[in-house]
Amino acid sequence: MADLSIKIGHTTFKNPIFVASGTFGYGTENPELVDVSNIGAIVTKSITLNPREGNPPPRIVETPSGMINSIGLANIGVDKYINEMLPVYEEIGSPIIMNIAGSSMEEYIKVLQQMEAVSSNIVGYEINISCPNVKEGGMEFGVDCNMTEKLTKELRKLTDRLLIMKLSPNVTDISAIATSSENGGADAVSAVNTVVGMSIDHKTGKNNIYTTYGGLSGPAIKPVGLACVHKVYNSVKIPIIGIGGIVNSSDVIEYILAGSIAVQVGTANYRDPGISEKILNDLNSYLDEQELDSIDSLIGSVKTYD
Ligand SMILES: Cc1cc2nc3c(=O)[nH]c(=O)nc-3n(C[C@H](O)[C@H](O)[C@H](O)COP(=O)(O)O)c2cc1C
Repeated sequence: MADLSIKIGHTTFKNPIFVASGTFGYGTENPELVDVSNIGAIVTKSITLNPREGNPPPRIVETPSGMINSIGLANIGVDKYINEMLPVYEEIGSPIIMNIAGSSMEEYIKVLQQMEAVSSNIVGYEINISCPNVKEGGMEFGVDCNMTEKLTKELRKLTDRLLIMKLSPNVTDISAIATSSENGGADAVSAVNTVVGMSIDHKTGKNNIYTTYGGLSGPAIKPVGLACVHKVYNSVKIPIIGIGGIVNSSDVIEYILAGSIAVQVGTANYRDPGISEKILNDLNSYLDEQELDSIDSLIGSVKTYD
């Protein structure tokens, strides 16, 4: 059997199949449907300094091969996360990566400071600089190289834990933002967050999402995610965690060929919360069939025509 363990920064994960922020709650919602100890890591939903109600409904709609959401970062806030979730994570059996969002540099910093001031077994932080569904902040950072580098540098000073910047596909040049993250001291980048989209009901003439635009996810965005990962792979040396439209082990292999060391499964969890375990088993079988000891030789090895 292949050795599926991977190393990102100084953290080792038992396998490269993670679950994506916002699609697996706080990691505790489906105990009878999935054995989370088999998951490489759980990325918890974005946490902000203060609790957020999120956007008014409708904030989720199905689209061809995907869905659009505009949840607007509904979450319990960092105080409750510390008091209620951290004790649970001591027992959960899967590494936890906490996703953090903010509407200003200070907010990101305060959340991280609060987290670092308490003892916890969180293995790292994924910084959401790419949320398309909030009025302020979020994506403002992820579309600006200087702000990305500055934010990464400030957060780097505060923690030795894994620091992952989550990139937006809604930019002109994702490689430039990845490079700024690397220059700022990030251990890794994850790509991608959702793609800005819109859904209209032609019968009623109404927009299907309260905030007009939302974030498209699911199989519809896999080609976007693959292109982003491949571009980033050609620009930075830090590891890349691929995200977007993954539903099976073939998708995972494609993301690895494009340059990912690990992946996150998102929207597919809504159909089957246990899907990452199945993907992991299939990935294992594939590596055995190919007589590969690990995924190492596959990373970034896509055969391009040039
Ligand atoms: C309902 C929903 C909520 C999400 N919430 C967050 C979030 O809180 N923070 C974040 O960084 N990404 C969030 N995402 C984005 C996912 O983590 C992921 O980047 C995106 O959905 C693409 O992956 P997928 O096509 O596999 O779903 C959310 C996605 C969905 C569908």
